[in-house]
Amino acid sequence: MQTHKTKIIAAVKKHGTPSYIYDGEKLVSNYQRLVNALPDCVDVFYALKVNPNVSLVKLLRSKGACTEVCSITELEIALRAGTLPQDIVFLGPSKKDYELKKAISLGLFAIVVESETELKRISEFAKEAGVVADVAIRINPDFSAKGSPWKMGGRPTQFGIDEKHAVENFGNYLSMSNINIKGIHVYNGTNILDAQSVFENTRYILNLYDHISKKYNTNFSMVDVGGGMGIPYFPNQVELDIVEFKNLMTPLFGSFNKKYPNTRIIMESGRFIIGTAGYFTVEVNNIKINHGKTFVVTDGGTNCHSASAGSGRVVKRNFPMENITSIYEETETYQVAGPLCSPDDIIGRNIDLKKTSEGDLLVITDSGAYGPSSSPGLFHSHGFPVEVLVYQDEVHLIRKKDTSEDIIDRQVVVNFEKEPVLN
Ligand SMILES: Cc1ncc(COP(=O)(O)O)c(C=O)c1O
Repeated sequence: MQTHKTKIIAAVKKHGTPSYIYDGEKLVSNYQRLVNALPDCVDVFYALKVNPNVSLVKLLRSKGACTEVCSITELEIALRAGTLPQDIVFLGPSKKDYELKKAISLGLFAIVVESETELKRISEFAKEAGVVADVAIRINPDFSAKGSPWKMGGRPTQFGIDEKHAVENFGNYLSMSNINIKGIHVYNGTNILDAQSVFENTRYILNLYDHISKKYNTNFSMVDVGGGMGIPYFPNQVELDIVEFKNLMTPLFGSFNKKYPNTRIIMESGRFIIGTAGYFTVEVNNIKINHGKTFVVTDGGTNCHSASAGSGRVVKRNFPMENITSIYEETETYQVAGPLCSPDDIIGRNIDLKKTSEGDLLVITDSGAYGPSSSPGLFHSHGFPVEVLVYQDEVHLIRKKDTSEDIIDRQVVVNFEKEPVLN
């Protein structure tokens, strides 16, 4: 069994840095840990926004994962990974007409509708196509997700329809032509580490489903309870207790399933499944002392991994980082910077690492979630880094590094003497 260090070193030897290196065994075991903690009546939908690499999605698919997508490209990735349309839900607060039409024509399990306007558009497109579109209504509930540092609902956001308004108007939704309302969707928060909070959030959503079903005397067929199960990044955080999670969720879903045996229960998850399976690896380019602080300047920073620098967080805390090639045992305190000409390009502040030399490899662990897909990869035209999967002792290239040509060829050179040259 290779350690993560040997896997990383093998991958870097072949594909260089900066790089995202994924441990396939860890990815599979995280997914299976979640599935095993849930009763059979629950289907896990992997959220592509968290990491949309097609090979990773394919590996998860091979173990049974369904997918949640939020754009036409995520949809294409899910299909290429082998996901069946009936195992895909399509969300997002601003879907384009062509995206909705594609989703309708494919017959996805559900288009998750985020506004009444969107519902009307789907009704029209389905009518034009002569089909009935399967949808779920995304509700922004009156409760705020417990245990989540980042709240998507329970407060004014661009997501879903207000609970009160949706409950009052559900009759109108149900009567719309060419629309089959399968049920409801709520996703309210992310990185929740406390099982009791996930339980309470879920219970609220299942009760809401029950309330709407009874109020409108309707047999729905799906409830998507979101999820938001997290992983610890910082020293004061404790891992989600998966045994407690199982003990709480099993009876909750079990009794719901008894009452609604024909309702597909969906739990979405991204971070929990892939977060700890990814390692962001950079090489130290130079080390210098500047105004009394020691800067370790590397070849990849916030342009590749903005989450690690605390983007979106009020308090900037360091992700776990280690020097995996240092020849020293003693540690020193460093500021770890990336290659950008921005003082904010710091991926480790006052961080203690083993004494570091130029050429060393630094690794930010727990980097599988919200890495390249939520980073400004084009800043300074560096492009997105290479991505590598190590699985069953083999090193697989799963995304080529962007080259200068990749970046420049997307741009169009204007010939100002004549018409623009489109090539
Ligand atoms: C609708 C929806 N589903 C799933 C996810 C994935 O969440 P997580 O990474 O917390 O599992 C998100 C994250 O923002 C989301 O907005």
